Amino acid sequence: MSHLSPLLQQSSRILAERGAGSWLYDADGNAWLDFTCGIGVTATGHCHPAVVEAAREQLGRLVHAQYTTVRHRKMLELTERLYPHLPPALDAIAFFNSGSEAVEAALRLARQATGRSNVIVFRGGFHGRTMAAASLTTSGNKVRTGWHPMMAGVSVAPFPHAYRYGWDEQRTVDFCLRELDHLLLTESNPQDTAAMIIEPVQGEYGYYPATADFLQGLRARCEAHGILLVVDEIQAGYGRTGRFWSHSHFGITPDILITAKGLASGMPLSAIAAPGALMHRGHPGSQGGTYGANAVACAAAVATLEVIEQEDLIAHAATQGQHLRERLERLCREHAHVDTVRGLGLMLGIEIVSRPHVADGERAAALVRACEDEGLLLLRCGVHGQVVRWLPPLNVTTAEIDQAVDTFEAALRQLA
Ligand SMILES: Cc1ncc(COP(=O)(O)O)c(C=O)c1O
Repeated sequence: MSHLSPLLQQSSRILAERGAGSWLYDADGNAWLDFTCGIGVTATGHCHPAVVEAAREQLGRLVHAQYTTVRHRKMLELTERLYPHLPPALDAIAFFNSGSEAVEAALRLARQATGRSNVIVFRGGFHGRTMAAASLTTSGNKVRTGWHPMMAGVSVAPFPHAYRYGWDEQRTVDFCLRELDHLLLTESNPQDTAAMIIEPVQGEYGYYPATADFLQGLRARCEAHGILLVVDEIQAGYGRTGRFWSHSHFGITPDILITAKGLASGMPLSAIAAPGALMHRGHPGSQGGTYGANAVACAAAVATLEVIEQEDLIAHAATQGQHLRERLERLCREHAHVDTVRGLGLMLGIEIVSRPHVADGERAAALVRACEDEGLLLLRCGVHGQVVRWLPPLNVTTAEIDQAVDTFEAALRQLA
């Protein structure tokens, strides 16, 4: 019997031994095309040689240079290398370990900097599993059931889920902004509201991009009321959507940006970025942690950025994302159980249904299981587990995309 806690569940039966590029292998040499990327983490593929080499070199030099005690070179180098990719106003960067930790850091900063307590989040958002991050999360009951009471001071406004409402985009956005205004009048007075926190492309809830009108509406309201706009780029950022940051698709600039996942190609590292003047309004020394900005993780992150730049992976993700979208849209036209394709770049989801607009999580589970049997690893998301998500590494090849979609299509035929 394994002593691994049953609290930790795996969606596949794979016992992974090693990874290379888009592929995962077990000890018997079985191979899976990995279109999960560790939930969007291994952006440069498994064990990119340049990232491995950088981490290996750093391991032999300095592993833990505790960052509330000393500064270290790789952390400073990463800060300098990352800044040019950020909106110019966000000129101060703080590092943490996980996405949830960075979300909580952004929340602490927003509260300290504004002196306000409340935060507005958007229905379906996923912001993490630690207590405050889970309190901001409404993607499903999984990270809430049995945990109540959650943190107070959180209000939930609608997100433009046009597909779910069955409305067109304009009607959906008008409704959502009207409801947000109503919320500001009835539930969370702007003078009490520190921040609005949003995923520009919702992940866990089912790969829903926001719209430019909606995010610009949020930006305008934040400006008008001195509320901070915080974008959670943990899943959608770092090139995943075919641009470095997903919010740049929508013509807005955030006050605080949160990043993690792709940042260090699998080494645990997260960060928040904000204007230095805003960071100065936080309490000095109030942020940090024992393991933050680990030197090996920072070295891997510097190498990751170099790979992204040298291999032109953002443009590659946009091109390959377009190819993947075209293939998935064809599936949608030709197979009754695929209702729609959503997402941007290499962050795409397809809605699996029993008939139009009726979510079918069981069918999605069977499809993903059938693909696993045929050497393709996929993940699901969505309230009913009805969305099959496609998030290969940013350097995925056209041949790998074709192989993955062919495998999925064979499973669709088999389970029709
Ligand atoms: C958008 C988003 N925010 C926050 C998190 C939480 O990150 P972590 O699991 O590293 O705490 C995730 C993780 O999937 C995420 O996708």
